[in-house]
Amino acid sequence: MFLRFRDEPLGTHLTVNHKAMNPYYIHAIDRAIAITLHLEATGDLHQSLDVAFRENIPTQVRAIATGLSYTLASRWGVVNKVLEEVQGENLTRSSSLLRAALRVGATEVLWQSKHPIEVSQALGRVLRDKTCRKILPRIRWVLKRVATFSWPRPRNFQEHAFWTYFFPPQMAEKLKYLYGEPGALHFMAFVNQEKPTTTIRANRTRISPEELAQRLAQKGTPTKPSPLVEDFLLLETTHPVMRLEEFQEGLFTIQDPASGLAVVRLLEGKPASSILDACAAPGRKTGYLRGLAPEALLVAGDLSFSRLLKTREELRRLGHRAHLVAADGSCPPFKNGTFTHILLDAPCSGSGTLWSHPERRWFRKDQDLENLVQTQKAILEALFPLLIPGGRILYATCSLWREENEDVIQDFLESHPRARLISQERLAPHTHGTTGFFMALLEKNLP
Ligand SMILES: C[S@@+](CC[C@H](N)C(=O)[O-])C[C@H]1O[C@@H](n2cnc3c(N)ncnc32)[C@H](O)[C@@H]1O
Repeated sequence: MFLRFRDEPLGTHLTVNHKAMNPYYIHAIDRAIAITLHLEATGDLHQSLDVAFRENIPTQVRAIATGLSYTLASRWGVVNKVLEEVQGENLTRSSSLLRAALRVGATEVLWQSKHPIEVSQALGRVLRDKTCRKILPRIRWVLKRVATFSWPRPRNFQEHAFWTYFFPPQMAEKLKYLYGEPGALHFMAFVNQEKPTTTIRANRTRISPEELAQRLAQKGTPTKPSPLVEDFLLLETTHPVMRLEEFQEGLFTIQDPASGLAVVRLLEGKPASSILDACAAPGRKTGYLRGLAPEALLVAGDLSFSRLLKTREELRRLGHRAHLVAADGSCPPFKNGTFTHILLDAPCSGSGTLWSHPERRWFRKDQDLENLVQTQKAILEALFPLLIPGGRILYATCSLWREENEDVIQDFLESHPRARLISQERLAPHTHGTTGFFMALLEKNLP
């Protein structure tokens, strides 16, 4: 493990001035290592942040560790590549703790312009407490090499995507297929540079969007109306709005306007008297369905019982009622011809959420996609007969990929002569400022 070490007399000239180091920084590095370990095990950045910040962590520490973790998560594959190149061996040969420390350290050196010695000292402080002193010289050696790593000059689109925009080549190719080369580069640059905006939906049954905007502004949380859907407001700050009493009182929910548009599209044009939200949890769209169709029978189903409990909580907070049913959408427990409207917000790869979940560019597998597509097709197939003649179903995903979107719909239309496509839309961060979203509205023709 320490073979390469002999090349260079290491760190003998370094003095570690612990007292001069900012304690917030050391604490942040400690949390960043915890987040990185969790991220490697789960592939879920938001969950990793929640776990690492469970205790009471000072705001300054949170801010540093969160920023660092987002940078690392979005550049995960590139950090790994640099570390493997400078060490001349596969990262899997290091322990998980060493890998995490190196990833955190390399991110600081490469993108926060931190000096490798400073970062090594901070890592030293953290790891010494974990009785891991013997890996410290190794870390110092690697980070010094990272600091002088000569960045490759990209020769083609895939290399450009990897080294300039930090996207896996295969994913970049998929983006190119969707948006063309300039569009794909625009997409990648956009999600890297722009901070995702938090959007909220006013609960119209309790407050108008204008009144809500006024109340939030008085509390130092300015908003502006979403250009896409009426009831939505874009936050102009990063205030944690879930802590506001207006949230607790159920005056609003946090929701992406693209997901709101799906509900609007389903309900516009035809009055709804019975609605099935087949994959409802955690209930964001169910709440909006209830808000826009207060008189309709509303059934919210989901395969996951525990997620359905979250739906119940969400509906209660908003003061809404609906029938909740734990059920598999591919064999739904309802008679044919029961519903005038069905929302199928299908389980999907979530590739449309790459903006707010930067780690997803590195942690998703293609074989997951094939299984998902089978599930999406099976649920659509099983739900369509539940519509009354003339009824409507909206198929939606927060995926960018054609396989989960246009291909599913085309396949379905080809094998179901009674299904008529009314509209089909795609939204994306770089074109609409929303999560990547797909929706197709189908109507069931009379026999
Ligand atoms: C995209 S999420 C739904 C988000 C929700 N509509 C909202 O707006 O809050 C997909 C949901 O599908 C559920 N699901 C997965 N497979 C399912 C199946 N076979 N039948 C019903 N629900 C399923 C998952 O548990 C997950 O809650």
